[in-house]
Amino acid sequence: MITIDIISAVPDLLDSPLNHSIVKRAKDKALVEINIINLRNYALNKYGQIDDAPYGGGAGMVLMVEPLYNCITELQKNKKYNQIIFLTPDGETYNQKTANYLSIQENLLLICGHYKGIDDRIRENFVTMEISIGDYVLSGGELAAAILVDSIVRLVPGVLNDAESALNDSFQDNLLAPPEYTRPSEFKGWKVPDILLSGHDSKIKEWRFEQSLQRTKNRRPDLLED
Ligand code: ADE
Repeated sequence: MITIDIISAVPDLLDSPLNHSIVKRAKDKALVEINIINLRNYALNKYGQIDDAPYGGGAGMVLMVEPLYNCITELQKNKKYNQIIFLTPDGETYNQKTANYLSIQENLLLICGHYKGIDDRIRENFVTMEISIGDYVLSGGELAAAILVDSIVRLVPGVLNDAESALNDSFQDNLLAPPEYTRPSEFKGWKVPDILLSGHDSKIKEWRFEQSLQRTKNRRPDLLED
């Protein structure tokens, strides 16, 4: 079983994505445990302070070192984390290979920054991986954390059934997924490719592979260079 702990100053942002669909099913089946830790519980004072203005001036607020330190060290009393991950636009760009790697870990801790970021001493002294979900800036790490969790959880054995198997996902073998169709076989004159209606399994498999290859060549030739 994989446990994913997430430290957030805005836990409500994680509520919906982690409590529906496949992630919910995985939690219900006890294949994954997800704990959201509200950083406010580690606030420095009765005003709930967890952030302050940056030294050296500048706009925005920075999550303070002390609440994060107290939160992380308390969590570490109960668990040894395989990776402590900070979600940040200056991290390494996330991809399926990293998702595969994370899905076989036992204990992960995700730290969501908010406002302008976090005191760098936390990054220097605790964080073991820094991950960005793409070259754009979000208001905080929560949506990025939800993306990580979703992509990790679907890879945990037993979460998907055979028909849903993650092995057919795009990127799993550096190929994009082929096109899919469902009933009806004709709609407004738009027809589903005959081969898919043929019942000829090996030919269908061949066709799907060809389509995957063609799509990857057209849309993401960089994947074929790996
Ligand atoms: N926090 C803010 N922007 C982010 C991004 N692009 N990826 C991960 N975490 C972030």
